[in-house]
Amino acid sequence: MNDWIDYYDSTHTIYVSRAHRDEHFRLIADNIIGFISSPGAVVLDYACGEALFAAKVADACNKLILAEPAPGVRGRLVARFSPNIKIRVRALDELKYLDAGSIDLAVMISVAQYMTPKEFGDALVMMKRLLKPTGRLVVGDILDPNVGTLPDVMTLLRFASAQGFLKDALIGLIRTALSDYRTVRQKVGLQRYSEHDMLALLSAAGFVATRSQVNVGHNPSRMTFVARHAFDRMGDLAR
Ligand SMILES: C[S@@+](CC[C@H](N)C(=O)[O-])C[C@H]1O[C@@H](n2cnc3c(N)ncnc32)[C@H](O)[C@@H]1O
Repeated sequence: MNDWIDYYDSTHTIYVSRAHRDEHFRLIADNIIGFISSPGAVVLDYACGEALFAAKVADACNKLILAEPAPGVRGRLVARFSPNIKIRVRALDELKYLDAGSIDLAVMISVAQYMTPKEFGDALVMMKRLLKPTGRLVVGDILDPNVGTLPDVMTLLRFASAQGFLKDALIGLIRTALSDYRTVRQKVGLQRYSEHDMLALLSAAGFVATRSQVNVGHNPSRMTFVARHAFDRMGDLAR
């Protein structure tokens, strides 16, 4: 088991309050909906976390696959969404059983920083296999090696101020600084990729990609990339 997966399976303090957690997942759901191109789409949310507003995403597509590695989080997803016939909950390992070319939109938001470069590269190759030739992969909330943690803190405080939970945010920042987050971060760290690194990684996995002008989520100092299958000059899939 991976340290960050264990961390996300614990009662962590990443979301400083219920209001923060709800606003975060509402915004992520709205951002995902913005990438859905048709109501018939099959959507994969890779390492979706609690995905509190997944029902809203499912309303905008034909089928939503919520893939999550943390077993406790996954159990809550099953409990929350099993009545919704459009939503399937899967472990990441189970994604290899999905048919090639069966997904219209795959999203991977705020996940790459917790994966080793090998895990991330393998996940991109798997997404390439799963995506339809017309499908899109959205990789969001990428940490730039040139941007430190201060913008993350300022973004949280601005978001909290706008949403009315500034006091909780200040307390939450202190709690997080004293929590397992700090220990795990010191032990395994967070992966950061420049725009150039990301475009190269996506290209190596068989995609053509562009950086979005706007990041998904509420942190504008992080980056989002939208990728499609790379095609060769004959119009066939390049890989
Ligand atoms: C910050 S949460 C993001 C959740 C959701 N995508 C969102 O945007 O709110 C990080 C997610 O990455 C997952 N995760 C942590 N380490 C991972 C790893 N090595 N491989 C795949 N997923 C991982 C966690 O289980 C958690 O669901």
